[in-house]
Amino acid sequence: MSRYANLLTTEKDAERIIPLEVITEESLAELPEAKKAWAEANGFSADTEGLCRIPDGNGTISKILVSLGGTSPSATTPWWLAGACEQLAVGTYTIEGIADPAVLTAAAFGWCLAHYSYDRYRSDKEPMKERVLILPDSVDIEAVLREAEAYALVRDLVNTPTDDLGPADLQAAIEELAATHSATCTAIIGDDLLKENFPAIHTVGRAAAEGREPRLIELNWGDETNPALTLVGKGVCYDTGGLDIKPGSSMRLMKKDMGGAANAIGLASMIMAAELPVRLRLLVPAVENAVAGNSYRPGDIVRTRKGLTVEIGNTDAEGRVILCDALALACEDAPDLLLDFATLTGAARVALGPDLPAVMTNDDTLWNALEKAANETGDPIWRLPLWAPYDKKLNSKVADLNNITEGFAFAGAITAGLYLQRFVSEGIKWAHTDLVAWQFETLPGQQAGGAAQSIRATFAAIKKLLHSASQ
Ligand code: BES
Ligand code: ZN
Ligand code: ZN
Repeated sequence: MSRYANLLTTEKDAERIIPLEVITEESLAELPEAKKAWAEANGFSADTEGLCRIPDGNGTISKILVSLGGTSPSATTPWWLAGACEQLAVGTYTIEGIADPAVLTAAAFGWCLAHYSYDRYRSDKEPMKERVLILPDSVDIEAVLREAEAYALVRDLVNTPTDDLGPADLQAAIEELAATHSATCTAIIGDDLLKENFPAIHTVGRAAAEGREPRLIELNWGDETNPALTLVGKGVCYDTGGLDIKPGSSMRLMKKDMGGAANAIGLASMIMAAELPVRLRLLVPAVENAVAGNSYRPGDIVRTRKGLTVEIGNTDAEGRVILCDALALACEDAPDLLLDFATLTGAARVALGPDLPAVMTNDDTLWNALEKAANETGDPIWRLPLWAPYDKKLNSKVADLNNITEGFAFAGAITAGLYLQRFVSEGIKWAHTDLVAWQFETLPGQQAGGAAQSIRATFAAIKKLLHSASQ
């Protein structure tokens, strides 16, 4: 809890505090004449996003008018104040005229992430320009910081190039998180995956260079007597496509193919920092889908932990091949809830666009909780069906199933979900989130690059489900 902790406070004793007043058409019209004239002279208006600094008689700023360009402050738009924040100078600010804690909480979250930048490799990096926001006691600052820190962690992990974020580095990141929260962390590495019966993870990751061996990373935390929650994240640190190699343009962003793992890690960090009453298990199969003489091949048949054999129709559908061993392991302990996150298919992005993760689940109650939480947190997701009639498209003539639907080039996100479902034991409540983990366009509070997606909604849903279970 360090990066953004200085940015939010309830202390009102700063030397100079500048009030921010969000302006609407009406409130602009009601301003005292001199202020209205000043705003007009500065080209400030309620329908164009911007700031107007109002001077006092001494030439210092007495307040800043904020125009949101026609939108309103909102609890479900976490970025509503982020654009204004990004334009402010170092200083201490307060929001005037808004009392709703949910709206202020959203503002505080966006405020923190307006300070995010990924500058690890830049020679011209500057120290963070700290703008402090004073908030009333009604805002749970610690809760905001937990979420903002988790977002920053997810972004950092996804943004880090594969040379510095291979399977071993992903393990180190999870070990560091474990140490922070007194969790335990173990890993099964390289040929040990075969000894411990994770053949599919080994097969996909075996072509990586020395020191970058495939592994299954596991973190455990929380009281044994609490409900068991297992998170699984796709940790493909780089996806070349394997021997079914991707063209350059499709490969360009594939350092982000561990975005499912990054989001699962971010969610785990939120759960542990908030000390939710769960028994948490995080499983990250981490590999590089690399090209070498010992790469797995199209046509190979892979044995999996569950005992099912998988014909490899395409080495680029590698995510499901590593996830199926992790899901099988997860089910051996019959958790109360099983959630996986993965940058699994280009098809999910085609269906819903990059900003709307696709969720597939076998449990309507779970979906209802997720959907409600997504609406309340402004962290969107959309449900796709695990459409049973498509399941047979995964059948293979020579193995128990194929990792792709040969001859059926439709519904790629759904058939990937159906593939995973074959490895989830009957009766386990499970949701699979197919996400992009990338922000393509820089927006206020959302710098282009690695992106956290769906984890605030999921966190809120888990909290609600725990609460209703204990009633
Ligand atoms: N990592 C990709 C999916 C991906 C691509 C996610 C682009 C987000 C953006 C995955 O491993 C993959 O390559 N999937 C293939 C599956 C196909 C071979 C059945 C795809 O989606 O094209
Ligand atoms: Zn792939
Ligand atoms: Zn992939």
